[in-house]
Parts: sequence; structure tokens; C-alpha cells
Amino acid sequence: MTAGTDGVRALFRGSFGAEPTGCWRAPGRVNLIGEHTDYNDGFVLPFAIDRATTVALAPRDDDRVRLVSTFDGALVESDLGAVDRRDFAGWSAYPLGVAWAIGERHAGAERRGFDVAVDSDVPVGAGLSSSAAIEMAVAVALNDVWGLGLDRAELARIGQRAENIAVGAPTGIMDQSASVFGEADAAVFLDCRTLDVQQVPLGFDAAGLVLLVVDTKVEHQHSTGGYRDRRDACERGAAAMGVPALRDVTVDDLPRAQELLDDVTFRRVRHVVTEDARVLESVAALRSGDLARFGALMDASHVSMRDDFEISVPQLDAVVATAQAAGAVGARMTGGGFGGCAIALVRADAAAALAVDVLRVFAARGWREPVPFTVVPSDGARAV
Ligand code: GLA
Repeated sequence: MTAGTDGVRALFRGSFGAEPTGCWRAPGRVNLIGEHTDYNDGFVLPFAIDRATTVALAPRDDDRVRLVSTFDGALVESDLGAVDRRDFAGWSAYPLGVAWAIGERHAGAERRGFDVAVDSDVPVGAGLSSSAAIEMAVAVALNDVWGLGLDRAELARIGQRAENIAVGAPTGIMDQSASVFGEADAAVFLDCRTLDVQQVPLGFDAAGLVLLVVDTKVEHQHSTGGYRDRRDACERGAAAMGVPALRDVTVDDLPRAQELLDDVTFRRVRHVVTEDARVLESVAALRSGDLARFGALMDASHVSMRDDFEISVPQLDAVVATAQAAGAVGARMTGGGFGGCAIALVRADAAAALAVDVLRVFAARGWREPVPFTVVPSDGARAV
């Protein structure tokens, strides 16, 4: 668990026989609204959660890299030469991919080897960006020990590059940005074209609300299949509309899009264009304390993902329907889709009963047991 740094320090000491230089911590995320908009240069509104990766790290005087984690306990050995040849696999592709991406983007950076121990309590494969948490914990650590002086937006870009190349998933910049820019009790309103960030105070706690996450346990992978296909459809749509990215298409342009595009591509475009508009409206609603309006936008976002973008699955729809029947302020699937998690904004005193309802619905349909838990908007990546 990452509640403290004792465990990861002990793992470092036990594996490498020395004290680490320090510990760094970076959280996973949930996305409140703005799905599949990041790689369309659009808007997203995620927050960093209270589950994180912690690393204990020390630089070395040579080029060797040694990694150990609580995931499997095995010691992985490499060196910067192998890293630069992108010779890495398994979970170590995340930290090594970051070391590679720093070299790629900053040819003059003085890199040395390092020893690192990794621990995480972000559930893996649930769509809560466990990989971005590892990337950003290692990125802030190497930024410090290598004295790189890179700003947070650049660290997010490095993490995205690591994910795209080392892991082969053609994902956008949202997850890494949420992990570095997160702040307690706030969402990260990010313009994915400029990487301009504004913190949007959420005030869920003050309003007596919590965000319930339900991990459906339906497994998804973004390096293959549907995610890539949706991304291709968006690029086709933007090209047909004669714009660099769907960010440049507005709701008023949709009738023209419908004339130009085949039905499927049009519906993919309509999701992205209306989702960008929903993010902007959500930010305004949250800033004026209109949580009911925000909840309605969450609901509308889910419908758009289910019917137009077609990335939901029956389990995600069931969580959303159950939450809505229980009187949730709003509910939607979150993340890339095809599995993973749904979220519901609910009264704090109703969250436990909703969790029980969801378990019952899944059991009645013979689905794998889901895992409900609440998350709290938390601070982003930092030294601890
Ligand atoms: C995944 C990707 C993100 C983003 C979401 C969909 O989480 O990693 O970059 O595209 O899907 O919003």
C-alpha cells in the first residue's frame, strides 16, 4: 500500500542494499467528463485520485538501471543503451519508457543509470491509469535526480510518449496530465491542444456528495482493437471536414458533417463535438455550484458514448442505470471504454446502498463480481 513510503523504502533497501535518494508519488485518475476528446485536441475534466504509485529511487554513477516492484518482486536489470534501443517489456516498459522518452525529447539531458523500487495501490487494468501513475512517479523522480528542470506539461508529454511507444497504446495526454496537475478537491480542466490547465474546485464533500467508482472487472486493452479504431474514425472525420482536429468542429457544423460523412463516422464525430461542448458546460456549471446541471451532463455523456461512440458494454450501462434509479446526481462510464470503470456522483449516505444494488444486479446477471469504492480528488505527482 502507498499510505506511507516505508514499504517501498524497505523494498529498495532489501533489493539494492542502500538508502534511496528519496521517494516520489503520482496518482491514478478518474475522468469526470470529456472522453475520447484528448487526442482530438479537445477538452477533458479528470481528477487525480487518492490511489497512487510510490517510487524510491537513487541515481547511479554508471549506466545501469535496476528495477524492482511489489507487483512481482523480480529484479529487472538493464542499462541506458538497451533503453535507447527500446529493449524493454512487461511492467518495466513504463519506467524504462520514461527514461527513453526523456532521451528522445531532450538529447542534451545528462542521464545516468538509476535504481528504483516501485509500489502502487492503483488497481491495474481497471481504467484508472495505473500506467500513467508509474510513468509520472518515475518522471518527477528523474526530473529531480537528473536535475532536468522540466515543467509539468513536459513531464506529461514524456509520459504520453512512453505510453505510446513503449506500450504501443495510441492514447492521448489526459491520464498523465491528471496525474501531474491534480489538486485536492479540484478537477483538472485541460485544453489538450495547448496544455493550458485550470483547476476547477469541486466541492463534492461540502455538498454531501461522493464519487463512487465501480470497477466492472471487464478487461480492456487500448493497444489493440476498439480504441485505435475510434481514433482512426476521428482522424477520418477531421480530414473530411478539412480541419486539423475535431476540436475545430462545432455543434453548428454538425449538419454539414452529416452530409459529408457516412453514418458511423458521423456518429463518432458527433460524440466528440458534443462531448467537448459538455466539458465546457460542465466547467461553467461546477464554477457556479450547479451540481444538478453537471450531473445531467454526465448522464448525457454516457448516452453519447453508448449510442454514438459505441464504447460502452452492458456492465457499464448496468452500473449507470442502477445509479440513476437510485437517484444519483449523475453517472457515466469513465476512461477509454470497452470495460473498466463507471462513476456515479451520489449522496454520501447513499453510496453504500448503491454499491450493494450494483453487486446484486451483477450477481443476478451472472457477471463477474464488480468492485465498488469511493475516490477523493487528490494532489498530483510530487516528492514525498
Ligand atoms: C484512455 C486514454 C486517454 C483517453 C481516454 C478516453 O484512458 O489513455 O488518453 O483517450 O482513454 O477519454
